[in-house]
Order: sequence, then structure tokens, then C-alpha cells
Amino acid sequence: MRILVTGATGTLGGALVPALLKAGHEVRALSRTKRDDRGNVEWVWGDLISGNGVREALGGVDAIAHLATSGRKGRGAVDVPGTRTLLILARAAGVPHVLFTSMAGADRAPYGHLRHKLQAERMVAESGLGWTILRATPFHQWLNRRLSDYASLPALAVDRSLPWQPVHTGEVATRAAALLSAGPANRAIEYGGPQILNTEDLVRTWLRARGLRRPCLSVRYPGRLYGAQRAGLLTTDAAPKGEISWHDYLVPPAPVLSDDFASEHTASPTSPATQPEQDPDLRVYGGDEGYERPTRS
Ligand SMILES: NC(=O)c1ccc[n+]([C@@H]2O[C@H](COP(=O)([O-])OP(=O)(O)OC[C@H]3O[C@@H](n4cnc5c(N)ncnc54)[C@H](OP(=O)(O)O)[C@@H]3O)[C@@H](O)[C@H]2O)c1
Repeated sequence: MRILVTGATGTLGGALVPALLKAGHEVRALSRTKRDDRGNVEWVWGDLISGNGVREALGGVDAIAHLATSGRKGRGAVDVPGTRTLLILARAAGVPHVLFTSMAGADRAPYGHLRHKLQAERMVAESGLGWTILRATPFHQWLNRRLSDYASLPALAVDRSLPWQPVHTGEVATRAAALLSAGPANRAIEYGGPQILNTEDLVRTWLRARGLRRPCLSVRYPGRLYGAQRAGLLTTDAAPKGEISWHDYLVPPAPVLSDDFASEHTASPTSPATQPEQDPDLRVYGGDEGYERPTRS
């Protein structure tokens, strides 16, 4: 299948593009920045807010992975009007399937950014196209960036009453690729990480992994969205779920040594292949979608 990926340059897009290629699909990747085609990825320029370039991007496409977002601070500009534009043009182009990435709890707690995700979900479900909605919990990579933003503070304000269920983008991408291959589910599917941690566990694990020491001050975050999170509305017990824990993402376990003596002793100690990865966000293309749980060969 030829699959158009919006948001291909984003955190999840960087993992989904290689996952789709690995599954044997052709990828057309949309970005507001012009890029040269690379390998098997055809890059197209387009902007979902103005609609420029979107019609052209949809030509000959069998499915859309609609990941683009203007995020929590973007006031839904891409999620709502951008999704509307995409759906109208996709319908005109006769695209059979659109997969939209939403957030776990969008239907249960339509506050803040989740309100825009729910609006977009409804447009997708009523678009007349075959559709799948994948509602994921917060990504490891996003939480890691958010905590890094606070690292320079002398103390961290932590609300112990909030449950988090972080999930790895590599695993979300694998799930999304499988759903795209399967065709329209015409329903919303939730996908979360393997554990539920409170904010303090989350922050302390992160501080330890980064070798930092900061006092954690107990606070209560205000607002309806945090209230919904506190009530457990943003986590999910849907199966399957991710397997990579927050701790293993931050501190990837050392590879289990092979029984094969030759393969253990042929790599030079200075070879990049034998160096531990320092930063889980280090990316070659899309980065840690390449993470694999160590297994005994
Ligand atoms: N982050 C999380 O923890 C999380 C959790 C659950 C679900 N999700 C959902 O997963 C999806 C992907 O999230 P993400 O964190 O990977 O996003 P991200 O890293 O913030 O990337 C946003 C992407 O949107 C594209 N974009 C922004 N404005 C655009 C516009 N006007 N026209 C076309 N493209 C535009 C950007 O592409 P260019 O800059 O190249 O144009 C970029 O690739 C989103 O639907 C998000 O709501 C995220």
C-alpha cells in the first residue's frame, strides 16, 4: 500500500515511517519543510492549516496515517481545521482508510487539548471514509523532553496523586502499522504503556537515570484535565499494551550476551556498535524506534 503520513517528522512519525517501510508499504511523508526523497520515502510539501499541497499529496494514496498536530499549545489548529481539510480532500480523492492518532481519555475527559482531539475524532468517524482511531497514552519521549525542560529548576513540583501510563513511540508505531495493514477498524482503539506510575515515581526514576538530585515538592496540579487524570480517566487497561517500561526506556538494559563466542569477540571495543547509547532520544532516522528488547539469541 502507498501510505501518506502527516506529521512524519514528529516524535511518532519518526518511528512510524520505518515501521511502515519494514511492513512492506510505500511511504509518502508530508511536511511543511521541503525535503529530498530519501531511500524509499517520498517527501511531499504541504500545510494542513492553509491546505496548500494537501490535494497533491493525496494522489494515488491507499491510506493515510494522520499524525500531524499543533500540540497542546496550538489551540487545535491542526487537529480540528487541519483534519477537516484533510478529510474533505481525502474523500474527494477516494482514499479508502484514514488512521487518526488521538490520546487515551479524549472521549472520557474532553478538556484542554483533549477537547480538540475528540472534535477531530468525531470528524474522522463521520467522514464517510474507512477509519481507525488509535488513542495512545503519553509517549516516553514526550515526558522525557518535558522533564528535561524542568531540569534546571532547583526543585520539582510533583503531584503524587496523578497516574501516568507512558508508552514507547516504537511500540505505538508498530501498533499503528499493523492497524494500517489490517484496513479500517471503524472504531477507536486504545494503546497504553505496561505500567501505571504516579508522578513521583515517574520523576524519581527520571532523576536517577539522568544522575540528577532534586527535591520533589508535593503539590496538587489544578484544573479539570488534571482532575480527570487523577480519577484515572487518561489511562487504559486495553490489551495489547506496550512492553517497554519507563525505566527501560531511560536506562536500556544491557544486551544479553550471545552464547556464540565468535560473535561476542569480533566487534572492536571502540566500534559504534559496542558503545552504550547515552541519550534515548538520539536519533539516526526517527531514533529509538530501533529499540529492541534484548533477547538471548
Ligand atoms: N506526544 C504524546 O505524548 C502523544 C500521546 C498520545 C497521542 N499523541 C498523538 O500522536 C500524534 C503525533 O504526536 P507527536 O508527539 O509525534 O507530534 P509532534 O512531535 O509534535 O509532531 C507534530 C507534527 O505535526 C506536523 N505539523 C504541525 N503543523 C502542521 C501543519 N500546519 N501542516 C502539516 N503538518 C504539520 C509537524 O510536521 P512539520 O513541522 O514537518 O511540518 C510534525 O511532524 C498526534 O496526533 C498526537 O496528538 C501524542
